[in-house]
Amino acid sequence: MRIVLKIGGNEIDDHSFLDKISSIVATLQGENHQVVLVHGGGKEITRLLTKLGVETNFVKGMRYTNAETLDIVEMSLSGLINKRLVRSLQQKKVNAIGLSGVDGRILVAEKMLREGEDVGLVGEVASVNANMLEELMGRFAVVLSPISTNADSTSSLNVNADFAAASVASSLRSELAIFLSNVSGVIENGAVLAKLNEKDFMGLKRSGVVTGGMVPKIEAAIRAVRNGVRMAFVTDADGAMQIISGQDAGTQVVV
Ligand SMILES: Nc1ncnc2c1ncn2[C@@H]1O[C@H](COP(=O)(O)OP(=O)(O)OP(=O)(O)O)[C@@H](O)[C@H]1O
Ligand SMILES: [Mg+2]
Repeated sequence: MRIVLKIGGNEIDDHSFLDKISSIVATLQGENHQVVLVHGGGKEITRLLTKLGVETNFVKGMRYTNAETLDIVEMSLSGLINKRLVRSLQQKKVNAIGLSGVDGRILVAEKMLREGEDVGLVGEVASVNANMLEELMGRFAVVLSPISTNADSTSSLNVNADFAAASVASSLRSELAIFLSNVSGVIENGAVLAKLNEKDFMGLKRSGVVTGGMVPKIEAAIRAVRNGVRMAFVTDADGAMQIISGQDAGTQVVV
């Protein structure tokens, strides 16, 4: 089975989180599943931006990205974070290879607007080099930074990792996509929702129950399922472990 794991950036500096992710991938590979990990890097990127004195702000759950910000985002995502994940997997004897969407033009993106608003050098995936990913997946766990190239390769574009994971999952016709974050699922009134459809999501967004980075995450999961991914879940590392062992956990996003 082809499985796409989207790894949130909030806990990517946490050893126990990385350890759990790596164990999950080791288990999946042991069962002959093929795995792509698409990662974010929210907290790490913010830390580096702060260190370098570059101010950024979020527009509708997305980071406004000017040229200076893009450089730092790319350094952080396609460098530090990507390689940290690769090493963590290798510690569990998982043969991992780390790339970004720029490599082999795995992700070609077009500049996008977020709900009509300009968010700078932010793109949405226009095409996925699925052939290349398929070739690599047969041999490695692929760790993919969502930084993409534009069509003529003159610039990189920052792509929200949830959306990148959705595009990868649907172009690979994955059976399963898990959006792993630092929350056990989509929470309403303190409880994790077992299932969420688009109509419920619109309501939760309107009432302010679902905010920030959870908005593009659920949108991405909806997109994945609509585009042929059989099952999509939002959960944390423990939830993902349960899901891959056949138990119920997290929030299943359905259409
Ligand atoms: N109803 C909700 N249920 C659960 N989490 C929610 C909800 N509404 C908002 N959130 C927020 O969404 C966050 C997860 O999205 P966020 O974008 O911060 O993380 P990520 O996508 O895992 O990381 P990255 O963006 O770095 O890849 C949670 O930490 C939580 O604060
Ligand atoms: Mg996010």
